[in-house]
Amino acid sequence: MIRLLEERKFPVGQIKFLASERSAGKTVTFAGETYAVEPLTAEAFADVDIVLSSTPAAVSKQFSPLAALAGAVVVDNSSAFRMDPDVPLVVPEVNPQDVAKHHGIIANPNCSTIQMVVALKPLHDAFRVRRVVVSTYQSVSGAGQKGLHELHAQTAAHVAGEAPPAPLKFAHPIAFNCIPQIDDFLPNGYTKEEMKMVNETRKIMGDETIDVCPTCVRVPVLYSHSESILVETEEPITPAAARDVWSRAPGLIVLDDPELKQYPLPAAVAHRDEVFVGRIRQDLKRPNALLFWCVSDNLRKGAATNAVQIAEELLKLDPVRA
Ligand SMILES: NC(=O)c1ccc[n+]([C@@H]2O[C@H](COP(=O)([O-])OP(=O)(O)OC[C@H]3O[C@@H](n4cnc5c(N)ncnc54)[C@H](OP(=O)(O)O)[C@@H]3O)[C@@H](O)[C@H]2O)c1
Repeated sequence: MIRLLEERKFPVGQIKFLASERSAGKTVTFAGETYAVEPLTAEAFADVDIVLSSTPAAVSKQFSPLAALAGAVVVDNSSAFRMDPDVPLVVPEVNPQDVAKHHGIIANPNCSTIQMVVALKPLHDAFRVRRVVVSTYQSVSGAGQKGLHELHAQTAAHVAGEAPPAPLKFAHPIAFNCIPQIDDFLPNGYTKEEMKMVNETRKIMGDETIDVCPTCVRVPVLYSHSESILVETEEPITPAAARDVWSRAPGLIVLDDPELKQYPLPAAVAHRDEVFVGRIRQDLKRPNALLFWCVSDNLRKGAATNAVQIAEELLKLDPVRA
């Protein structure tokens, strides 16, 4: 987020960096200046216009309402308020209009959902999406620094012929493996991550009738999530028609040339802000169904880029106090 504020030349007047007591004494460099990290307290939000928050959900539940009470607008990365009916859940390419409905908190959606809805929205507008079957291939950075470290450490041990360290962040060894579990299981047999894709997609797209059938899988990839998607539409759909609407879609790039072996790859898409789609093909039987492959950097568009874009939408509303 810090890097994106710099890259996108966000018009920052003053900035401060808050964290837990653990970070006392640490510094952060922003736009060539060095700042001391300050403790997260209710008083820290006085005279703050926009808060970009990325804390555990329990911390957000406690502090985001306090920031809103102090007059700030919080863009919250955690899941704390995503399904709260009073809190807009926003992907600027999809529902920028919802930003104006905020009451001091705007939620940033789950990373897997963000990239999927960027690809689905243009199809929904043109062909009306009825049902989505999605399998994710999610990188370890979605589990933070500890997830990255776990893949590195287990891979290094394998290569050295040593016993790999026991898994801590993931339910099973992730090196040279795939784990069909992200977050905890719910009584319905789906994981929390999978149900986020179901519920958040409907809220962002503003259509409670869209069926989403997800399977979320952790794979030994460092950055970028990939998704294999089958979409069923009310109107007939073809690869050419989908390419046509996607060619005009914001934040989306079609990379689809099988002859040249061109399709989105997680390693190639890392550090980009767009959502990439490829492997576009018709369902073998159904004229109203299409398959495609969708890849995006989970730390950028799946988190930080989307949060900063929401803040940019806020500026268009001019919420900044005189
Ligand atoms: N698409 C998305 O938006 C997306 C993607 C991935 C993750 N997430 C969410 O983003 C959030 C942050 O994830 P993360 O892995 O970066 O979390 P994290 O490492 O546990 O914490 C992030 C920040 O919160 C601070 N913090 C933690 N506990 C605190 C406390 N008790 N009081 C004050 N500050 C506290 C940390 O301070 P210290 O640095 O001092 O520890 C750190 O600055 C999570 O809610 C996660 O689910 C969202």
